Amino acid sequence: MDELLVALDVDSAAEARALSDRLRGLAGGFKIGSRLFTSHGPSIVEALAGRGDRVFLDLKFHDIPTTVAGAVAAATRLGAWMVNVHASGGQAMMRAARDAAGEEASRLSRPPPLLIAVTLLTSLNQQMLTEIGISDPLADEVERLAALTEACGLDGVVASPQEIARIRKRCGKQFAIVAPGIRGGGDAKGDQHRTMTAREALDAGASYLVVGRPIIAAPDPRAAAERLVAECRAS
Ligand code: C5P
Repeated sequence: MDELLVALDVDSAAEARALSDRLRGLAGGFKIGSRLFTSHGPSIVEALAGRGDRVFLDLKFHDIPTTVAGAVAAATRLGAWMVNVHASGGQAMMRAARDAAGEEASRLSRPPPLLIAVTLLTSLNQQMLTEIGISDPLADEVERLAALTEACGLDGVVASPQEIARIRKRCGKQFAIVAPGIRGGGDAKGDQHRTMTAREALDAGASYLVVGRPIIAAPDPRAAAERLVAECRAS
């Protein structure tokens, strides 16, 4: 299922390769985040991209514009299919990231990666937001960051499934919405707060679902992914 991006939140390259081998054909792509990247670096990105897998490099860049531009250019060279930054890094940072992806891709004569901005982490709730000095309702803050992202010419946002409908209404059909925090009835929520089932998230307008523990921590990850895909396709 093209929309399903499986988070390879593991420590070893061997585990990541084994999981991707088991899930290839079922998952639309694999997400490599800070845990695996910090353990194994760029080689795991190149290895999967070199096999033709779509790799979402989820390093959530948040730094000064020049530094983020350099990091996004490097991710483009690695062959990432999707890359992300934090929308709260601001307009100049997001525009620098967008320009860097475009310039590096055209230098290499390949399509630029999809450039996505994280609105608010799905592990945050209203109380945590207040603690960091944001007193607006969480959904308003997400919508504001999504609109800013769109204005900067990025391809979409990462947002909790619960905010999809509002973002879809505000930002239009072409804007990609990547939704982590996907949980079925029997799944443990863990540190996620704003969750939905895969089917609900797609029905609300998600473009991509990011699913980690419900698949990779299942006794049989392929069976868990098959169940999720079947649930999404059931009429
Ligand atoms: O295991 P689980 O399904 O909760 O994994 C969700 C994945 O999505 C994790 O890799 C996490 O880093 C990532 N993510 C998230 N919330 C965001 C952005 C990314 O949970 N806002």
